[in-house]
Amino acid sequence: MELNDTIKAQLNHRSIRHFKEQALDKKTITTLLEVARQTASSQFFQQFSIIHVTDGAKRKRLAEICNQPPVSQNGELFIFLIDLHRNQQLRKQAGLDDGRLHTMDLYLQGLSDATLAVQNMYVAAESLGLGGVILGSIRNDIAAVSELFDLPEMVIPALGLQIGLPAESSEKKPRLPLDLLVFENKYQSTLPKKALEDYDQEVAAYYLNRQTNARKETFTNQITGSKSALNKHFTKRDEVLEQTHKQGFLWN
Ligand SMILES: Cc1cc2nc3c(=O)[nH]c(=O)nc-3n(C[C@H](O)[C@H](O)[C@H](O)COP(=O)(O)O)c2cc1C
Repeated sequence: MELNDTIKAQLNHRSIRHFKEQALDKKTITTLLEVARQTASSQFFQQFSIIHVTDGAKRKRLAEICNQPPVSQNGELFIFLIDLHRNQQLRKQAGLDDGRLHTMDLYLQGLSDATLAVQNMYVAAESLGLGGVILGSIRNDIAAVSELFDLPEMVIPALGLQIGLPAESSEKKPRLPLDLLVFENKYQSTLPKKALEDYDQEVAAYYLNRQTNARKETFTNQITGSKSALNKHFTKRDEVLEQTHKQGFLWN
């Protein structure tokens, strides 16, 4: 099998967080949004929306929330929302109650719709030679983001996506080998020690040799380090269930 350009771009993926000043033209942006629009959708409910953030002040506030200064700088910024509000309104207009809208099932459908749309748009952007980064950090403060964008009940931020012309080059980050990731017919729960050690070494070499923020680090260290530990101090990210309830989700 010959690799086509899209697969080559996918296999060459790396996050880009700094972008050139040059803006994307309108046609490129519209095409990328059309790709997001055409993404597969669970039960064809289309439970997501996108906000293109063009207001400098809003980007500045988002950068603070994300704790990532480049979010307020170059590149285009899109916020992908889980959106059950639209369908709630449609049911209301038909004189119906909210039906299954407040179930975990529909929330997860909205989350997968939004997430797939992000990835579809990301792949399309990378296939054009653009770079980008997914921003889970927009969920650092769900209440603040909801207020910033006037989100009504039954809408909640899922992920951000910043894309543009790359102003940095970065090394490809090695992923778990297929042997550790893919099983045939049944799950293998015994951890293959040697394969994990080899992978840790590969990750260590990546971190030691990368251009920015080079350090001693392995995959195992990341999983056993402070990032995965229970927080000693409560942060807004620990309030995600309360905030999700507040936006009207998951009541039954
Ligand atoms: C759901 C999701 C959320 C992410 N959130 C952030 C984020 O908030 N900030 C950031 O700089 N990178 C974020 N990333 C990018 C990851 O850090 C990155 O994909 C990972 O370290 C692997 O590096 P690579 O994409 O360069 O291969 C996110 C990625 C995903 C899939």
